[in-house]
Amino acid sequence: MKVKQLVWAEEYNSGIGQIDYQHKKLLSIINQLNLTYRVDSEKSTLNGILSSVKKYAACHFEVEEYMMVKLQFKDYSQHVLLHTYFLDKIHYFDKAINNSESSENLSDIQVEMIKFLNEWFQVHMLSEVKAIRDVRLERGVKIDNLITQCFEDSDHAPLN
Ligand SMILES: [Fe+2]
Repeated sequence: MKVKQLVWAEEYNSGIGQIDYQHKKLLSIINQLNLTYRVDSEKSTLNGILSSVKKYAACHFEVEEYMMVKLQFKDYSQHVLLHTYFLDKIHYFDKAINNSESSENLSDIQVEMIKFLNEWFQVHMLSEVKAIRDVRLERGVKIDNLITQCFEDSDHAPLN
């Protein structure tokens, strides 16, 4: 398997500063995981990355779902299901890492995590960002405040 670093692409821009900022953070966490491929599959490394993903995703989804309600997304419940699926999968990885007894086992989980997160990122970005852009264009909705309490101060992007 070849693992490449994810690169930010023009089509990933939603036009909402805070969402784009959070997606860039997710991309950098996934790249951190990608760098561990064939180099480090220690339990503590994988646990550390997974806990960043977990913390990050829970808050990001909260912001995104709030925004979707504001924009009256027609596929809202479908997007929420995708978020739930993602969180369930993270929970599964979490359990798998902590129950694993051997290093072969850990590197299998690592490969599965790498595949899942990279694929998920690209699908999430293309379907969700496109939906956000379409709705904003269609309705001309201005999103001016998506701040929620779940991110730490340093994790907030300036609002546009
Ligand atoms: Fe997102």
